Amino acid sequence: MPKIVVIYDSRSGNTEKMAKAVVEGASTIKGVDVELYKVGTRFPVSSLDKADAIIIGSPTIYGNPTPEMKAFLTSVADLKKSGKLLLKNKIGGVFGSYGWDGGWVTDALAEVLKNLTIKVIPPVVSAVDQMGGMGIRISEENISKCRDLGKAVATKLKG
Ligand SMILES: Cc1cc2nc3c(=O)[nH]c(=O)nc-3n(C[C@H](O)[C@H](O)[C@H](O)COP(=O)(O)O)c2cc1C
Repeated sequence: MPKIVVIYDSRSGNTEKMAKAVVEGASTIKGVDVELYKVGTRFPVSSLDKADAIIIGSPTIYGNPTPEMKAFLTSVADLKKSGKLLLKNKIGGVFGSYGWDGGWVTDALAEVLKNLTIKVIPPVVSAVDQMGGMGIRISEENISKCRDLGKAVATKLKG
């Protein structure tokens, strides 16, 4: 069964909510296995090699992905370089949230995936944290885009 791994970081829950929406969207396509991991928790890095698609998401912290996400992606690049991870023929996706001026972080993450030879499937979802929002700080429109991303990647794997 084709497999998608979604890896995200989140401090105050916004990007986590987006990650769950990506999983939800991917799960609407039957016959695709979806795994969700938060950076900083224990999971085998080999799950990336076993995946057909890798989707990553991060908040913006001081104009960058979180230090934990950056460190994780550096580790992945190092493992690929040394031949311990192959990451061959994979597709991927990107999502992220920001508060004011960090919308470019998703572009930076897409670039990282491309450098890992992972083909990025649209939409790349960059969502602003609606700080005045009550409860949900990511708009329903952006949550819906995250579902679209999960569905688009899963559909591609089935096609
Ligand atoms: C320490 C810190 C630094 C931040 N730096 C930026 C920044 O440089 N640019 C920006 O647009 N948002 C910044 N933000 C806002 C977060 O990116 C935004 O609230 C995001 O939705 C948080 O995601 P999370 O709830 O998944 O942790 C920062 C937030 C914190 C706590």
